[in-house]
Amino acid sequence: SPTTPSKRITSIIKLLAESPGLTNIPSTHTFTLNSHDQVVSDTEEPVPVIDYSLLISSSPDQRSKIIHDLRKACQYWGFFMVINHGVPERLMRSMIDACREFFDLPEEEKQEYEGKHVLDPIRCGTSFNTSVEKVFCWRDFLKLFVHPVFHSPSKPAEFSENLLEYSKRVREVARELLKGISESLGLGTNYIDKALNLEQGLQVSIANYYPPCTQPELAMGLPSHSDHGLLTILIQNGVSGLQVQHKGKWVNMNGYPNSFLVNTGDHLEILSNGKYKSVEHRAVVNKKAARISLAMAHGPSLDSVVTPAPELLDREGNAPAYIEMKYGKYLELQQSSKLD
Ligand code: SIN
Ligand code: FE2
Repeated sequence: SPTTPSKRITSIIKLLAESPGLTNIPSTHTFTLNSHDQVVSDTEEPVPVIDYSLLISSSPDQRSKIIHDLRKACQYWGFFMVINHGVPERLMRSMIDACREFFDLPEEEKQEYEGKHVLDPIRCGTSFNTSVEKVFCWRDFLKLFVHPVFHSPSKPAEFSENLLEYSKRVREVARELLKGISESLGLGTNYIDKALNLEQGLQVSIANYYPPCTQPELAMGLPSHSDHGLLTILIQNGVSGLQVQHKGKWVNMNGYPNSFLVNTGDHLEILSNGKYKSVEHRAVVNKKAARISLAMAHGPSLDSVVTPAPELLDREGNAPAYIEMKYGKYLELQQSSKLD
């Protein structure tokens, strides 16, 4: 039965949502949110928008304005939209279509991509809420390590080719943004790129499928979490669902059409010694439409040992607020919910 999660079914939520006559979602998928977490507001403050074309422009004035915008966005939000990023709309659309086709594959075909360990480079399935044992998220996913070594399922037909191109383009944008962010911290433009060896940086593609849900207020697409890397760049199929924590409240993030939704991760917080906090975010579901999102997470190279930037500590007379750790080790702990 699709309501009993089994090892042999990869797209549990999709099957469950499609089962005829389902009106009440099973208790295995019911979340109890405290009253504070039930409240969502639309923010009165404008969400930061970064014009990428100005960041890479040759005019120093324009660049320094954007560096200033990046500093504010990272300090006060940990979240921003990126417009004029230059990644073709055609490619973004093909990626979302390819993700949909992947989730529509027959179960037997998806099974070969299940993976066994949290660090397997190809892994699809349905996640537990790691903080509440045995409650499932209203989400199926496909996680792929796409850099420094590219991994992809061979089906659907054009998935791999599109993903290779898309990941390259998005990685380029992430590295440029991180150069701007490095500068915004008062570090050299290339400090982050060099110190964390981004040439060999880990890039993970996470495709999410959130089917419509008959009781969206009882389910959770993805519970509150922060991302382990430096920056995550997300696109979606025109259906919103992302919420971020801002000044202690949950805020809906809708995003301009064709913009990138970008959030900071744990390693930016560590590198900046807490100046740029890693933003908590979550994904909610709705009654009407399936939502597809594609997140590209960018982190240090797996063997980078990350510490707060010494220059920041010296200048500000601060003690390091984070212990040093290899990124690969952090990832393993975080993905198996053993991180303190
Ligand atoms: C994520 O946090 O990885 C995905 C959130 C979303 O689907 O909007
Ligand atoms: Fe996330």
